[in-house]
Amino acid sequence: MHLTLLLSLSLAADKVPMTVDVSKPGAKIDRNIFGQFAEHLGTGIYEGIWVGPDSKIPNTRGIRNDVVSALRALKVPNVRWPGGCFADEYHWRKGIGPQRAITLNPNWGGVTEPNTFGTHEFMDFIHQIGSRAYLSVNLGSGTPQEAAEWLEYMTASQQTSLARERAANGHPEPYEVPYLGIGNESWDCGGNMSTDYYVSQLKIYTRFVRNYNAAQQESGKQMLEIAVGPNEADTQWTEAVMKAYQAKHWSWDMQGLSLHAYTVVKWPPAYASVGFGVKEYNQVLQSTLEMENLVSKHSAIMDKYDPGKQVALVVDEWGAWYAKLPGTQQGFLAQQNSLRDAVLSSLNLNIFARHADRVRMANIAQMINVLQAMILTDKEKMLLTPTYHVFRMYVPFQDATFIPVTFDAGSYTDGSVRLPRVDAIAARDASGKLLLEVTNLDPEQPLEIEASLNGVAAKSASGETLTAPKVDSVNTFEARNAVRPKAANVKVQGGKITLTAEPKSVTVPPVQA
Ligand code: AHR
Repeated sequence: MHLTLLLSLSLAADKVPMTVDVSKPGAKIDRNIFGQFAEHLGTGIYEGIWVGPDSKIPNTRGIRNDVVSALRALKVPNVRWPGGCFADEYHWRKGIGPQRAITLNPNWGGVTEPNTFGTHEFMDFIHQIGSRAYLSVNLGSGTPQEAAEWLEYMTASQQTSLARERAANGHPEPYEVPYLGIGNESWDCGGNMSTDYYVSQLKIYTRFVRNYNAAQQESGKQMLEIAVGPNEADTQWTEAVMKAYQAKHWSWDMQGLSLHAYTVVKWPPAYASVGFGVKEYNQVLQSTLEMENLVSKHSAIMDKYDPGKQVALVVDEWGAWYAKLPGTQQGFLAQQNSLRDAVLSSLNLNIFARHADRVRMANIAQMINVLQAMILTDKEKMLLTPTYHVFRMYVPFQDATFIPVTFDAGSYTDGSVRLPRVDAIAARDASGKLLLEVTNLDPEQPLEIEASLNGVAAKSASGETLTAPKVDSVNTFEARNAVRPKAANVKVQGGKITLTAEPKSVTVPPVQA
């Protein structure tokens, strides 16, 4: 009796007032911050996407149908491919035409690379899921000529030999290449370059690697070139590239600077992706919130050299990196995906949204079967991860206008770890609908959110919430829906939105005001 009373007292929901200031719209939350990353790594491409046309797994031209239909629901704005470290050893010619060379993938397990998923298959995949291409060119072991020819092969509408070869390989129309990465992690796996060396390569590549797709240029969708940016807190790299950008003249350009920042707590990745407790949940969330400092730091440097914010900060590798799952191959980066990852992804997406004026693109690592994945597959089986559900719940935020929300986040502590109890963002979509997202980080305490719209009366609200019994609840092939969204406990009272945010939950209630 006494125990029950204590328990119910401790679980009484605290009230958190919020003000959504609809009178102060901010920047557009670029749909590209919901981008994905698909590298030739482990079973991310082969099995995760590509099963081949002769597979018993239902597929369209070799690309599995179940995965395509799941990804379509996410409205994935762009897919970064072919890597990662893989990109700086990728030679595109091996992945076109009827005869594909079998090569090696030394970065990721030293396995053979059949090259059966190449340029045409990738373009077919993004076409099937309704996305756009973000290609990384090989700056590490390739040449400017090789990269320039790849772009000509893909984009030339004139009858050049390369364009004819593309047509002979099944695609007479030029492809759109809207985003181009100039190398990957050139400070490390991409060639261990100094900043000076990288900047001179950047100038050469952005000068000579051209997009010839006239229709793409005419429709105003010029290809954006994204320079390799810093590793986590390496401000010196950002300084060097942005300083070069400030002094640039007509013959080279860049429109984006990448940032790679994983949530790993410490290297090498040792945290388990499943079978952990509240302590590890809190430690990982504390580590992921470091993204705010990283984005602020690099944005401040970019503001110094580019006050007009012409160059986007592109967080093109982010997400949780845990210890490999027991029994899986070294180098395949296979991990489970739990409720913790759902909370972690909403916290990062909210950071990107709050910096929407500078962070205009991001790519979670990675799409399928690798690191913090949307989807896991096992031969013919497929499941949607908690992270997938968060990305699906956030779809209405794509290209919506950021609206400031003020609230006292409070805090809770676990040993030396101190975390805010709540996070939230708001936005208005093109149809005028107001969107609110509330993340309750606290693994034990529910919260009663009461949001007022600063003078405007809310009329109705509904929505979904994602939570689960345990911080490490996961979906498995045996229980695929253990973690899935349910209707949110939200209503409108006296023009205010009231919602119960369950412990460790992500809630998105669209509001009519
Ligand atoms: O996403 C896995 C790897 O992490 C990428 O290949 C590399 O760019 C980064 O170090």
